[in-house]
Amino acid sequence: MAQYSLFNVWAVSLPLKLLLMGGYHSTDFDVHRNWMAITKNLPIAKWYFEDTNQWTLDYPPFFAYFEWVLAQLVPPVVKNDGALDIVATGNYGWPTVVFQRLTVIASEIFLFYALQTYINTSKTAAGKRRAYVVACSLALSPALLICDHIHFQYNGMLFGILTMCLARARSHRYVSSAFWFATLLCFKHIYLYLAPSIFVWLLFQCIGFKPVKFDWQLLTKIGLTVIAVFAVAFAPFARQLPQLLTRLFPFSRGLTHAYWAPNVWALYSFADRVLIQMYRHLPGVRLALDRYLGADITTKLSAGSELLASATRGLVGDVAFAILPTVTPAVTFGLTLFYMVLALIPLAMNPTYSRFVGAMTLCGYASFLFGWHVHEKAVLVVVWPFTFIAARDRSLLKPFSLLVSAGFVSLFPLIFTPMEWGVKVGYTVVWLMVFFVNFSKVTPVPRSTTPKSTGGVILDRVVQWYVLGLVPLVVVVTVLEVLETKYAVLQRLEFAKLMLTSVYCAVGVVGSWIGFNALYFGRDDLWNDDDDA
Ligand SMILES: *[C@@H]1O[C@H](CO)[C@@H](O)[C@H](O)[C@H]1NC(C)=O
Repeated sequence: MAQYSLFNVWAVSLPLKLLLMGGYHSTDFDVHRNWMAITKNLPIAKWYFEDTNQWTLDYPPFFAYFEWVLAQLVPPVVKNDGALDIVATGNYGWPTVVFQRLTVIASEIFLFYALQTYINTSKTAAGKRRAYVVACSLALSPALLICDHIHFQYNGMLFGILTMCLARARSHRYVSSAFWFATLLCFKHIYLYLAPSIFVWLLFQCIGFKPVKFDWQLLTKIGLTVIAVFAVAFAPFARQLPQLLTRLFPFSRGLTHAYWAPNVWALYSFADRVLIQMYRHLPGVRLALDRYLGADITTKLSAGSELLASATRGLVGDVAFAILPTVTPAVTFGLTLFYMVLALIPLAMNPTYSRFVGAMTLCGYASFLFGWHVHEKAVLVVVWPFTFIAARDRSLLKPFSLLVSAGFVSLFPLIFTPMEWGVKVGYTVVWLMVFFVNFSKVTPVPRSTTPKSTGGVILDRVVQWYVLGLVPLVVVVTVLEVLETKYAVLQRLEFAKLMLTSVYCAVGVVGSWIGFNALYFGRDDLWNDDDDA
């Protein structure tokens, strides 16, 4: 049997990551530098209080410990460069950049280890080959390259921990799976969004109806493991717990982030913009809207223009909608929860491994599509679990390809420097082509043999055209970007450009979600086995 080692993949991708070290990095770089400084210079009790720099520590304790470890490794030349200074804005040079970039590359080794573990848990040769394609696609993901090696974050390591959880789940090692997930939560709490799926999956390994069982030993082991992990993480902060929690859950942020993540709220905001234009220019629409909504729209439009402008950037505070009803955190929370619960019901009835990963994907979708203040980078939370099941059946590849193409293109606005343009676009295009081909190669043809309906054929075409449509989208946005530097007038279009990307990508992500739901709820044969696929 072939070895399917990821070592070569790591070695081949390393030079590119090293080359990107000197390129653009976002403010997240100073975030992590500041956290190193905080954990190095201050006693533990002050970590979550320190606020000299606006990028205060707002990840759970394991991540803070991680920064502490990194801070211990800082050599004198990097320290003298200002890497460990607690200042309002970091003042650092090359040594700090090289050091921090190397910490990302080094911590990512854990991802490769985790993916190799996942490949190794395959039982058959075909399963192993499929796992290898899955693992390569994740290890080489353009989203990781953009978010970690250009923008600057540590997603690789974190998704490595999630991968360990899934690899253990796949080999039915429940306690170990729970251990890795609890660890992940103590690193970054965004993964709470996926927690309902693993909670229900583990619970129904202990409790069963057909046949009736109650495995209290397993339940106790899992419970104690999770409690132990959280105790190790949070015990040192027992006295500062309320402060720690306000840092982790700042509820004062707006509905949408700086740019709109490609989710339902992007479409909602866009619909509001369209209605505003119709209201302004079509007398009939104006009459109708005034009659049904009361006459305060004009006041909102004139008085609220500043609010509306701020909503477009979405920086702080609430988003103002002129015509559509305001969206409150409670509404987003309710919708997210509703769609999560819907996904969990079949999982509770038949808690197989594949259904668990499907439910996790749907939890990711629910939080991404309906959540409050969603960041476009969070699309990885959907893509990650989805990738592990995408190669089970051809029918799953369609929503998957829709999700990755729309999701990855929506990350492009994160990187706006000309130098990295070629990298983000070229790399993503190559990745999409290589993995479309390889996923189709290793994926079995549909298990159901019903011939394709006309509707299905048309749907396939629409998906193909949609994905091709991403090309003109990127071209138009790029041309606008280039012309902007020459003609100041065009800078006023900056928002239109971002909106175009968000709205087009949102259509793709929502479409992939609908397609995936149809398969999750409609095709039991895809989820009923626990096999190697
Ligand atoms: C995976 O399996 C290979 C070959 O059986 C072995 O050499 C390697 O150490 C294993 N890796 C992990 C991470 O389990």
